[in-house]
Amino acid sequence: MAEVKAGLQDLVVATSQICSIDGQRGKLTYWGYDIHDLAAHATFEEVVYLLWHGRLPKRAELDDLSRQLTENRPVSPEILDLLKRLPPPQHPMETLRTTVSALSLYDPEAEDMSEEANRRKAMRLTAQMGTLVAAFGRIREGKEPIAPDPQLSQAANFLYMLQGKAPHAEDAHWFDVALILHADHSYNASTFAARVTASTLSDMHSAITSAIGTLKGPLHGGANEQVMKMLLEIQTPDRVDGYIHNLLAQKKKIMGFGHRVYHTEDPRATVLRKMSEDLGRRTGQTKWFQMSKAIEDLMIREKKINANVDFYSASAYYVLGIPVDLYPLVFAASRIAGWTAHVLEQYSNNRLIRPLAEYVGPTNLTYVPIDQR
Ligand SMILES: CC(C)(COP(=O)(O)OP(=O)(O)OC[C@H]1O[C@@H](n2cnc3c(N)ncnc32)[C@H](O)[C@@H]1OP(=O)(O)O)[C@@H](O)C(=O)NCCC(=O)NCCS
Repeated sequence: MAEVKAGLQDLVVATSQICSIDGQRGKLTYWGYDIHDLAAHATFEEVVYLLWHGRLPKRAELDDLSRQLTENRPVSPEILDLLKRLPPPQHPMETLRTTVSALSLYDPEAEDMSEEANRRKAMRLTAQMGTLVAAFGRIREGKEPIAPDPQLSQAANFLYMLQGKAPHAEDAHWFDVALILHADHSYNASTFAARVTASTLSDMHSAITSAIGTLKGPLHGGANEQVMKMLLEIQTPDRVDGYIHNLLAQKKKIMGFGHRVYHTEDPRATVLRKMSEDLGRRTGQTKWFQMSKAIEDLMIREKKINANVDFYSASAYYVLGIPVDLYPLVFAASRIAGWTAHVLEQYSNNRLIRPLAEYVGPTNLTYVPIDQR
């Protein structure tokens, strides 16, 4: 019998130039640039350029990309109308998955597979994902969506469209950093799903719709939402120990911990820890960071399991005022940059992705007519 790696663990299934992860040393790079370097110095727009073009932009190139993103942010009235008419979802990711899929029906280049058209679709999807999320967030509260502000960065504009007021400069800065940290992560489950779909030479919108469906699960992009629900349930720092010990005794997983690839601290968690602490201090809501730190200390002490990207983003987004069930959608509004970069890379050197499965079911059965079974 062929060796089967459950969950494709440790299996190298392709080559890619976009993103590398060193799980032993806790190192993450986009096109060779360390994530800490990018988080400290770049903007999300620069990172989008880097992911799509493989190098940092010159000033004029960045201005051009920023202008194109800004121009493409508004979604059509038909899509806003659809958002208003869809029934309330059981989870907002259903609405995002449906509306992103619907975008292709209004995109005249939906079926144009030329590289130029695919790059333009990547631009539109990246520009519009945040607009869809913010519009959904307002419509479900009975409010009108807010038109994007072309003066604001992608990060600041998202918070503005969601909350109706320009964000505090520190909030906008940290949210920009969060978008950078979430923008790509090599062959994670949703990116792999996008590439599998693209490998059939299906269109960009289909690939991104596959990715959103895959990101939705609590083992992937749904984890930070679960982390915040846990923090809200625990409520006070003195209840952390009892709560976590109880879950561990029941052999339950603690959301926001553990990783398939990192065997040390997730480098994104290092930055997000500081984001959670700084924003907690700025907004006068330090409790969520304190509780998170206590959970992290306990998990390292007793289980030797580190926090992942989803752990500290939860408390950071909470104090930014982002509704908890929108966390996975915010993830998508950043990861769209990486998904589209990977789909473009897949198209540029495509071979159908079609692995094998070892058959372990019954054999040599003979058909039995229905009334003799
Ligand atoms: C991310 C994740 C799916 C990786 O899973 P994986 O590589 O298949 O690893 P496993 O689930 O097999 O876990 C390996 C061991 O660590 C333990 N473990 C892993 N994550 C854990 C967690 N969050 N809490 C408690 N124990 C955990 C498992 O119970 C298992 O222990 P065992 O060998 O004694 O049975 C897993 O760590 C997890 O479910 N984490 C919580 C969800 C999450 O935060 N997802 C976001 C990822 S960025």
